[in-house]
Amino acid sequence: MLSNYSNPEIISLVEKKLDNLLSNDGRDSLLIEAMRYSTLDGGKRIRPLLTIAAGSLSSSNIDTLITLGSVIELIHCYSLIHDDLPAMDNDDLRRGRPTCHKKYNEAIAILAGDALQTEAFRVISSDQLDIPANAKLKIINLIATSAGHDGMVGGQALDLISTGETLSLVELQNMHSRKTGALIKAAILCGYLSGDNYKDDIYTKLNTVADNLGLLFQIADDILDFTSDTVTLGKTANKDFVYNKATYVNILGIDEAQNMAQKLYKQTLTILESLPNSKQLVDLTHFIYERSN
Ligand code: IPE
Ligand code: IPE
Ligand code: MG
Ligand code: MG
Ligand code: MG
Repeated sequence: MLSNYSNPEIISLVEKKLDNLLSNDGRDSLLIEAMRYSTLDGGKRIRPLLTIAAGSLSSSNIDTLITLGSVIELIHCYSLIHDDLPAMDNDDLRRGRPTCHKKYNEAIAILAGDALQTEAFRVISSDQLDIPANAKLKIINLIATSAGHDGMVGGQALDLISTGETLSLVELQNMHSRKTGALIKAAILCGYLSGDNYKDDIYTKLNTVADNLGLLFQIADDILDFTSDTVTLGKTANKDFVYNKATYVNILGIDEAQNMAQKLYKQTLTILESLPNSKQLVDLTHFIYERSN
């Protein structure tokens, strides 16, 4: 839960949108059931919240932001389903429930992930997202880049081949920035790009904020794997440690991982203080740093 940083009204709008996007009216297949199972009723919804927060800096419309944020969440949920598969992290628990392949089967889990991703691009490229065509194209390009080889999928491939390896700090940062940072960065930048009140200097600063928050998010995830427990996390704790994954904690140690997280957190707050209308982003920065799950 987002504790005092959450905005229950906004989260419930996102939940409703996700439910509508994955409507099972006339689609009573196991596939849609698995897509809904892995998307609805769970998750902190941090990416949509970041999209909405960044959109307030360029006066973007709330309906546009809910749609954009929800679409990013669909891609995120697909990445979680595939991340948990036996060929990847082989996890049984996600958001406090059996993972998609445990609840259904591996084939359905692979297909549910695939379908969530294509559904996301279908929705952004449709009339449901009411923004000028040039902004829309830029956003589609940004999201596709962040989700693919140069972003999340490429980072996940690095994660798999790096297990048991001692990476340099540069390699570790590159892997984390791609596997998790890229989609978080896209969530922030696309919110800003969807508004009319665009300014180059703000976009440049937001770029650094987005890089920092993306990296900070995964460092915090690595720290929580080490410091928290399975019930609080809703996923198996201490897994990275046991499987010798290339994480900030395993490679640098818990103290250094916490120092790096604190440095990124403070740097981000300093930049945000210089931006107008950044309160929501400041709140989310506190949350990303202090979260307990
Ligand atoms: C978990 O993401 C996977 C990572 C990219 C670290 P979240 O911590 O945002 O997971 P949910 O959506 O809240 O379950
Ligand atoms: C996952 O990183 C990043 C994704 C792209 C999904 P992790 O493997 O650390 O995420 P969790 O800990 O399983 O949520
Ligand atoms: Mg993983
Ligand atoms: Mg995992
Ligand atoms: Mg993790």
